[in-house]
This record gives sequence, C-alpha cells and structure tokens, in this order.
Amino acid sequence: MTVQPAGVPAITLQFERAQDGPLVDALIERAFGPGRYAKASERVREFATFAPEMSVCAWSGDRLLGCARMWHVRVGGQPVMFLGPFAVELGERNAGFGARLVARACEAAQAAGQSHVVLVGDEPYFSRVGFAGAPGGAVILPGPVDQRRVLVRALKADAGELSGLIEPA
Ligand SMILES: CC(C)(COP(=O)(O)OP(=O)(O)OC[C@H]1O[C@@H](n2cnc3c(N)ncnc32)[C@H](O)[C@@H]1OP(=O)(O)O)[C@@H](O)C(=O)NCCC(=O)NCCS
Repeated sequence: MTVQPAGVPAITLQFERAQDGPLVDALIERAFGPGRYAKASERVREFATFAPEMSVCAWSGDRLLGCARMWHVRVGGQPVMFLGPFAVELGERNAGFGARLVARACEAAQAAGQSHVVLVGDEPYFSRVGFAGAPGGAVILPGPVDQRRVLVRALKADAGELSGLIEPA
C-alpha cells in the first residue's frame, strides 16, 4: 500500500519478499554495524522463526528506506512475536517512517491473532508506538540484557501479562 500524509514523501509499505533479503540485510548492516551480533536480541533471532508475512519494508520506488523484521517465539509457552532489527536509512530518519513500519508490523501481527509483540529497544522511542516495559523483568532473554530495554506491546484487550523465558516457537 502507498501511504502519503500531507507534507511527507510517498513511501510504499510492503511485506518482505525473499528477493528483498540482501537489501534488508545491507540496510541493517549500515544501521547497526558488526556490533549488532553481540546483542541479546541476536541470540533470540538465532532460534526464532522468521515471519516475512509480518516483516515490513518501506520503499521509495526501488529504494529501500527502512525495515522492521518480525519473528515467531514463545514467552512462558505462549506464542508471541519478536520485533527487530528495525532501521531507517540515515538521511531518511525523523520523517515518521520508523513509527509507520512498527505500526504496520504490529497491525499484521494483530490481524494474525497474535497477543503480544516483544522487543529490546529504547523505551523513550518505543513508548511512542505503544510499547512499555515488561513488568518486573517478567520476560527473560537467553543472555544478559538491560531489563529496562525489554518492551512489550499487547495486541488484544484481554492479552494478559507475559511472563517467562523467550524460547523457540
Ligand atoms: C530508530 C529508528 C529506526 C527510528 O526511525 P525514524 O524513521 O527516524 O523514526 P520516527 O521518524 O518514527 O521517529 C523519529 C523521532 O524519534 C526520536 N528517536 C529516534 N531514535 C530514538 C531513540 N533511540 N530514543 C528516543 N527517541 C528516538 C527522534 O529523535 C525523533 O524525534 P522527534 O519526532 O521528536 O523529532 C532510526 O533512528 C534508526 O534506524 N536508528 C538506528 C538503528 C536503531 O537504533 N534501531 C532501533 C533498535 S531498537
């Protein structure tokens, strides 16, 4: 779909296709550099199941401007989605593309009947797009992480609170 609010350049949000993989990987590499492999969220992605049907790419013509990948995992046995990597090309930031990528990915997860999206990220940014800290370190990652960065967004009114270890779906 093409989205064009007043005053913002047109972008097309599209679910990730197999052929997009190399461009998405290159964008993530530019945004995070090699240090990203040390992140706790990378440990999760090593065992998580990629969900291209909920992973979103932002395009301007054939130019990839941003991406938000989604993964199937379980928390305390409950199926949930894990979001990341999430990046917007330097030079295209602060135009709302990031917020729209997250919103679209969460919308797709909600439409698929998912109850929660979990991620590791900066609360000041993600609180703007519906995420909040998992209470009391309830969601446990398979490695060291600043627990204040473990954030959850509920996708259903009766979703309940998540609790437990993040494990493979
Ligand atoms: C984070 C990122 C995807 C946001 O993309 P974006 O398209 O610029 O996001 P939006 O336009 O929706 O939001 C921009 C706003 O968020 C703020 N913001 C960006 N990163 C932030 C952060 N880490 N913490 C707090 N606020 C942040 C910007 O200052 C801007 O604020 P303003 O609206 O008051 O001017 C982009 O900055 C990026 O790719 N960063 C490098 C990779 C990264 O850190 N990814 C997230 C890992 S969890």
